[in-house]
Parts: sequence; C-alpha cells; structure tokens
Amino acid sequence: MKGKVHMQIDILSLFPEMFVSPFESSIVKRAREKGVVNINLINLRDFARDRHQQVDDYPYGGGAGMVMKADVIMRAVKAVRKEHSQVIYLSPRGRPLSQALVRELAAASHLVLLCGHYEGIDERAYTVIDQEVSIGDYVLTGGEIPAMVVTDAVIRLLPGALGAEESPEEESFTGGLLEYPHYTRPQEVEGLKVPEVLISGHHQNIERWRKKQALKRTLLQRPDLLLERNFDEEERQLLMEIIFTREEHDGQ
Ligand code: ADE
Repeated sequence: MKGKVHMQIDILSLFPEMFVSPFESSIVKRAREKGVVNINLINLRDFARDRHQQVDDYPYGGGAGMVMKADVIMRAVKAVRKEHSQVIYLSPRGRPLSQALVRELAAASHLVLLCGHYEGIDERAYTVIDQEVSIGDYVLTGGEIPAMVVTDAVIRLLPGALGAEESPEEESFTGGLLEYPHYTRPQEVEGLKVPEVLISGHHQNIERWRKKQALKRTLLQRPDLLLERNFDEEERQLLMEIIFTREEHDGQ
C-alpha cells in the first residue's frame, strides 16, 4: 500500500472481550487486516498487584459505588505509553466527541483508550491522562462502548481504511450539513418513485438538488448546525427557495 500510515490503538479495559465482535466485522476488520491499524486489547486486571487482583475499592470519605484504583491505571498506562501517545479517558465528564475531535485523534500515531467502570477513577490517575472524552450527554455502564465509537470513527478516516468507492470526506460538498437522500434501483417501490432529477443525467441539476435537500433536512432536523455556517451565494439562494417556495411532495 502506498504511503502506509500505521496507527496503533491500545485499549485498556476490564472487559476486553466486549470488543471482539465489533472489531472483527466490516470496515474495522478489513482495516486491521490491511495493516491500516493495529488494535491491542489489554486487560487492566493484569496490572493489579495485590493477592486478589483488585482493580477497584471503596471511596475514601464514604458514599456509594467503587472507585478504580489509581495505581492499576498508572501502571497500565505507563506500560503502553510511548513518546507520542495520546492517552484518552472515556467519561461523561469529558470533551464532547465531534467529527472535528475525531479528525484530531486520527492524526495521532498512538491512541491509548482507557475505559472506566464503577463510579469513576481515583483522581490521581488523571496524572497519566492527556484528555477526557465523552460520546454524549448520557451515562453508560462503562467506557467500552464509547471506546468502540471513538475507534470506529477514527479508523474510517485513516488512509486506506475505506475502499476506493467509499469516501470519508463528509465535507465533499455538503460539509456541515446532514446527508441528502439516497436512492438505488428499482425506480419504483410500492408506488414510490425516484425523484426525476436523479435519472436526468444532468449533473449540475443533481448537485443543486442534493445540496438543497441537505440544507432542507438540516434546517428542519438540526437547525443548530446552521448557526456557525458561512453560507455561499448558492446556499443563500437555495435557502430562500426552501423558505419561500411551497413545494408539493418534495419534488424540486
Ligand atoms: N462512560 C460512561 N458514559 C460515558 C459517555 N457518555 N461517554 C464516554 N464515556 C462514558
């Protein structure tokens, strides 16, 4: 493969078996096989040092829940970290994951994803963490699913992860907007037809239609995405059409 960029992702978890199936399917599997990414699943329990291989303990000061032990986390991170590693702790307190953050992470050569459980981690473990990332404002039972989300989103941006037919460029021309509607054969399903413009072969009209649909969907479903947008002339015009034209059956 030309200009092979190899990323390593080490995942520190108490439940490494959770990752097996998602990482052995589809594009992630293919990327691993192609050598685009190397994923290591590491069991945090291997870094416990006491007789019972204890990874968590009761909180000082009392209260509900268990706290993951700092020494276990620090030992594990130190065992895997290299000079240019980005150590990320998945937690609902973290920086919200966005495509911009995914792009940042995809530029690293080594990601260490630390998955927490129970009430959280001993505060002193933060000394070995570079950033805390959240996948959304809801609470999951642990950091494993968020680590899968981060891994999946990062891998699809790595050179060579997607085939020639697939494009990671969510910016191609509708960047920052929701996707336009897609259609494939047949031309009619239960009386539902493919919009005429898509079978017209007129590429400029098709692009304009797609852009308009993307704008319309975004306006209706995610208006927040439009707030920071710098609209170009064509987009302004399309928006005017959307707002001031009565359209039947979503035709044009
Ligand atoms: N761990 C538990 N909930 C989480 C979330 N929403 N994001 C990241 N890590 C988490």
